[in-house]
Amino acid sequence: MNAINRLAVVVSLASLLPLSAIAENANPGTVEVLHWWTSGGEAKAVETLKAQVQEDGFIWKDNAVAGGGGAAAMTVLKTRAISGNPPAAAQIKGPDIQEWGALGLLTELDYVSKANHWDSLLPQKVAQIMKYDGHYVAVPVNIHRVNWLWINPQVFDKAGAKVPTTLDELFAAADKLKAAGFIPLAHGGQPWQDSTVFEDLALSILGPKGYHAAFVELDEQTLTGAQMVEVFKTLQRLGTYMDPNRAGRDWNIAAAEVINGKAGMQIMGDWAKSEWTAAGKVAGKDYQCVAFPGTQGSFAYNIDSLAMFKLKDENDIKAQNDLAKVALEPEFQTVFNQNKGSLPVRQDMDMSQFDACTQKSSEDFKEAAKGDGLQPSMAHNMATSLAVQGAIFDVVTNFLNDPSADPATAVKQLSSAIKAAK
Ligand code: BGC
Repeated sequence: MNAINRLAVVVSLASLLPLSAIAENANPGTVEVLHWWTSGGEAKAVETLKAQVQEDGFIWKDNAVAGGGGAAAMTVLKTRAISGNPPAAAQIKGPDIQEWGALGLLTELDYVSKANHWDSLLPQKVAQIMKYDGHYVAVPVNIHRVNWLWINPQVFDKAGAKVPTTLDELFAAADKLKAAGFIPLAHGGQPWQDSTVFEDLALSILGPKGYHAAFVELDEQTLTGAQMVEVFKTLQRLGTYMDPNRAGRDWNIAAAEVINGKAGMQIMGDWAKSEWTAAGKVAGKDYQCVAFPGTQGSFAYNIDSLAMFKLKDENDIKAQNDLAKVALEPEFQTVFNQNKGSLPVRQDMDMSQFDACTQKSSEDFKEAAKGDGLQPSMAHNMATSLAVQGAIFDVVTNFLNDPSADPATAVKQLSSAIKAAK
């Protein structure tokens, strides 16, 4: 067959193909993902999602907005949504999913969720958060635990400090570390980090029921009660063990201080483990993870999820559906969560592939779920609206930044700031 005849065959075969298939080859579909996974460990985790979507033949458009806790990412998302140009998927969590759903901007993932049996894969509590008006509009990728304390055992040994299980022991360990010339508590002075410590203290001092009354029910008596005054007092005392130059420091820089042996401990959710993993450190050997003192039996959860926006282009919709499907597949759940430090959100996973901290997290999650121990994280968007959360952040950060602030005044400010934001 000569060249002209060959071309003629190709052209006539092409005319037999449906137009959509030709278009599909020309434009494989793009999925733009807005997220705030930008630290070394987080970037490794998100890379696994990108690789899978690309392997399925789609284009990944990365929209990473730096800033732990996600406040900066949320600002970018709002601006884009207002101008009618939202991304295909965005890291939106907890009650905020309902607010975006109510705006009518999210797409229903009925086809993917039914075809992949999400209702039977996910814990009911998690499924509820992902649904708006009875339809999945977001896909969860993991379960983070917030109430952890990260410890460098070599530093503890040098200082003669003992791993704490109570708040008194926490202060005793901090004193030893300080006396030995270490920074006792690595911390970054950013509102969400301050409130991460604050909520751990609240869980420890108020217990899970009191925590629920304060941050889910926003019960005034609990918010202004003697125990909440105690939470602020203890926060003020903890502040004296943090580096005074902490203002604005990112959480992963604080984590690095513990990893490098400059500091002894960090109070942070288990995304902190992603930094230890990325540094090649082994859980249980090079570092220890223990429940934040006094919160044993409780599990403050923080579920990362990607909410999906309505799109017009058919190929982009295919790419979006692929992302939603991939996010809950066992292979992805394993490698993403090994890198991210979190628990798989699927309940049928083989946990032997995870390290000692994640295995402990999995056991503690099940234990906490039997009673009142499972509580939504306030500092990580799971308990309240972002407006109420912002009001709490302001009060807590202003308090921590003023060493002479009065705890009894702080609880009054807390309650009135929440009232105004509700
Ligand atoms: C997110 C995590 C993230 C952390 C630090 C949390 O709110 O849920 O995925 O690693 O912030 O940025």
